[in-house]
Amino acid sequence: MWLTALCLFVLLLVLLWAYSHHRLSYWAKRGVPTFPGAWPLLGHMGHLMSKKKQRWEYIDEVYRKHGGSTFCGYYEFLQPILLIGDPELAKLILIKDFDHFVDRRNFTFPMEEDDVANHFLTNATGSHWKGIRSVLSPSFTSGRMKGMFPLVADKADKLVDYLLKLREEKGTSTFVLKKTFGLYTLEVISSCAFGMESGTMDDENSLFNQKVAEFSKIPPLRLLKFILFMAAPKLCYFLRMKFIQEEMIFFMDVVKASIAQREAGLYRGDFLDLMMEAQVDQANPLSKIPKYPLTEKIIVANSVLFILAGFDTTATTLSFVAFFLAKYPEVQEKLRKELRELIQEHSEINYRGIMEAKYLDACLSETLRMCSPAHFAERQCTKEYKLPGTDVVIPPKMVVSVPIHSIHHDERYWSDPEEFRPERFLPENKDEIKSGTYLPFGLGPRNCIGMRFAQMESKVMIAKLLLNFELSCAPGSEELEFHKQLGLMRPSDTLEIAFKPLK
Ligand code: HEM
Repeated sequence: MWLTALCLFVLLLVLLWAYSHHRLSYWAKRGVPTFPGAWPLLGHMGHLMSKKKQRWEYIDEVYRKHGGSTFCGYYEFLQPILLIGDPELAKLILIKDFDHFVDRRNFTFPMEEDDVANHFLTNATGSHWKGIRSVLSPSFTSGRMKGMFPLVADKADKLVDYLLKLREEKGTSTFVLKKTFGLYTLEVISSCAFGMESGTMDDENSLFNQKVAEFSKIPPLRLLKFILFMAAPKLCYFLRMKFIQEEMIFFMDVVKASIAQREAGLYRGDFLDLMMEAQVDQANPLSKIPKYPLTEKIIVANSVLFILAGFDTTATTLSFVAFFLAKYPEVQEKLRKELRELIQEHSEINYRGIMEAKYLDACLSETLRMCSPAHFAERQCTKEYKLPGTDVVIPPKMVVSVPIHSIHHDERYWSDPEEFRPERFLPENKDEIKSGTYLPFGLGPRNCIGMRFAQMESKVMIAKLLLNFELSCAPGSEELEFHKQLGLMRPSDTLEIAFKPLK
């Protein structure tokens, strides 16, 4: 009996090993160079999720080992993934041959409670994604951004006041980057997404703040659930596992309450109003807004998504900019000079001035080159694709990944890539940037829909910060340290800078 059980167990192990070996030879059989160190069953997941080395560091090592070659393969568990190292090929996939790569890696959530996640723009697929994107895009034009500028500038002023108060009342001369900018970006996005005055700067322990903080954490159980959804969606369905977290339900309820207020006549000109207008316009044959049924569920889903996609990315970006400006006082001074000239010309910080400021744009762009919060972009193949000039065929459902961070740090495209040099992005030097080598917001029809908003929001805050304070490195925070959590590239929770009010 024992012997039979043991034999069966050994047989099972052998079969598992053989299956794993078969799956993990997918790339070798097709002559595609492969990352070294795949583990049975896990593939390269151990390396990709390790806390010792950040994902982008590991990917960069492999990218360099293959000389940033056109492409190479790796495995997430037993699933083969293709890493696209060449900007020309990345452009084909993200832009020219986009109709073969319409989707992002997608999770289908079959449980009724999770259905809202199927309508997130980030997650929606095929014609559903196309329909939602076409209706939401007009909300992000420069005209719309100009309309939202006063809401955003008001919050930037509020953060300046918050810092002044911090100094006066508590005698503080340093602030923690990520947490502080998080207060600003959360107020901005909740106000601009659905008119919610979250008051995060007034009460750091507000319910809103707590829910966002909870949402951003990835405790081990949530990580395990996420991995299971990725590796075995059918099993998750069988186990009736739910994906939506309690915090997301909180945000959805807030949006629903806002919708009820709008229906009663309130108008703020925020994303929620724009989406509700688009919904009404669907029935108007004369309206130029693309036609796609924008249900309440889609509106709620994407209002919540804007918070989730916009709050952390922008707070992280601002943290990196402030750190670099503190570290390089000569850049800070040059930028301040530009901003003072701007004030002289426009007598205030206004939308036009902010968008025209060249050095401000260069500092933000160079920061996003050095540290891209979204350090890779993915697409899922939707129509079989033969990689040009090769015999390699990408089948439908395969995920391809573009290593944004590695391309941004490749010396073939950027001289002294580890040097912070905003001048690279000044108009007179921009022609030297090879197309496809700069993609902090992704590229092509499925790039970041919030790019203009994020740029405007970041620029206003940097401008107000530099016009009011002198920034320098805080003791113990002279070097950039990253957060160990999986996901975005973020600064560590303790990274600080020192600030001194300008006379
Ligand atoms: C500095 C801040 C930000 C950065 C660095 C960033 C970066 C990105 C990147 C790299 C992508 C993937 C693009 C691709 O796959 O080609 C993306 C997608 C997206 N971002 Fe952003 N983002 C930022 C801010 C925002 C903001 C403020 C919003 C909302 C207001 C937003 C909403 C989205 C959405 C909805 C998508 C999915 C678009 C789609 O699938 O059609 N992002 N972002």
